[in-house]
Amino acid sequence: MKGLILSGGKGTRLWPLTFTSAKQLIPVANKPVLFRVIEAIRDAGITDIGIVVGDTANDIKQAVRRGNKWGVDITYIQQDAPLGLAHAVKVSQEFLGDDRFVMFLGDNVIEGGISPLIRQFADSDWNSQIVLTEVAQPEQYGVAELDDKSQIIRLIEKPKVPPSNLALVGIYMFDHHVFEAVDAIKPSWRGELEITDAIQWLVENQFRVFPYIHRGWWIDTGRPGDMLDANSMVLEELTPDVAGYVDRDSEVDRRVTIEKGAEIINSIVRGPTIIGENTRIVNSYIGPFTSIGPDCLIQDSEIEHSIVLENSTLDALPARVQDSLIGRHVTLARSPMRPKALKLTLGDYSQVGLL
Ligand code: DAU
Repeated sequence: MKGLILSGGKGTRLWPLTFTSAKQLIPVANKPVLFRVIEAIRDAGITDIGIVVGDTANDIKQAVRRGNKWGVDITYIQQDAPLGLAHAVKVSQEFLGDDRFVMFLGDNVIEGGISPLIRQFADSDWNSQIVLTEVAQPEQYGVAELDDKSQIIRLIEKPKVPPSNLALVGIYMFDHHVFEAVDAIKPSWRGELEITDAIQWLVENQFRVFPYIHRGWWIDTGRPGDMLDANSMVLEELTPDVAGYVDRDSEVDRRVTIEKGAEIINSIVRGPTIIGENTRIVNSYIGPFTSIGPDCLIQDSEIEHSIVLENSTLDALPARVQDSLIGRHVTLARSPMRPKALKLTLGDYSQVGLL
C-alpha cells in the first residue's frame, strides 16, 4: 500500500500564524501535526508516501525533506490550486498507479494511530474504507447516513440539515477505482471537487465502501481552538521525560516533559505540559495543557492552556496568559518606558484579548 498526505490549502482560519508557515507545520505538543501524520502512516508499515503540496510547498519540503528521519520515502505532488480533496487525488494518479492507498489529511490528529485500520483494509477486498466518528456539529464536516445494518445510504459534504451526527474523519482508503469516481463528479457549490461526492459515486455504482466507526478522539485542527484541543489531547498521551535542568527552588509535577537544554529556575510547572529544547522558564508559573516550544524565554510570567512556538519571549506580564496561541519570534513584555501605554506590533488578522 501507498500513503497520500494532503498538505495543500491556505489555512485562512489560522491567520496570522499561517501567513508565514503552512498550517500542517503548527506543532501540537512541540511536534508539527504533519510529522504526526507521517509517523502514523509509517507505523502502519507504509513507507512509500506522497505529499500533495500547494502554495506552502517550500515550507513543507524544507521541514520534511525526503523523509529519511522517519525511514520513509517521500514524493512531492504539486497541486496548482486547492480545488478540492478529490482534485488532490486526481493530480496524484501517476504516483499512486494501481496500488491500494490510504489518504490522510495533513491537518488531522487522531487517537491511537491507524495501524489496525490499514491492516483491515489491506486484507479485504473492499474498494474503499472510510472512517466515521460522532461529532457535536456535523454540519461542519462530510456526513454519512447509515442504514440499520451499518451500510452507507449516502454521504453529503457540510449539509445544512445533517442526516446524522457521523462525520467523515480525514482518513480514507481506496483502490484504483477512485480515479473513475473523481473523473465522474462535478465541483460542489463551494467550487471544490469533493472526496465525499467521489465516495458517494462509488456507493451508487455498487463498489464496496466499508464504514469504520472510530470511538476515540479526533481533531481537525482548522481553528485556533482546535489546535488547543489537539494539544491538550496529545499532551495527555505523552510519556513524561525530564532531559533538561530543574533547580531546587522549582516545583515540577509528574506529567511534565522537559526537553534537553531547557532550564526551569524558581518556577512552578504543572502537567500535562511540555517545555522545548533550550527554553528557559524563570520565576514563572506554567499551568496544565501548555506547550512551550524550543528557544523561548518565559520570565516573571504565568501561562496555561496555551501553545507558544519557538523563539518567543514572555516577560514580566501583568496577567496570566491562557487559551492562547502565540507564534514564532513573538515578544510579549511589560515595558518600563513612558508613556504607560499598550505598544503593539501585530500582524494582519491578529486577535488580542485585553483585561
Ligand atoms: O477533517 C475532516 C473533513 O475534511 C471531512 O469531514 C470533510 O468531508 C472533508 O471535505 C474535509 O473538510 P475540510 O473543509 O475541513 O477540508 P480542508 O479544506 O480543511 O482540507 C483538509 C486538508 O487537505 C488540509 O490539510 C488542506 C488539504 N487540501 C485541501 C484542499 C481543498 C489540499 O491539499 N488540497 C485541496 O485542494
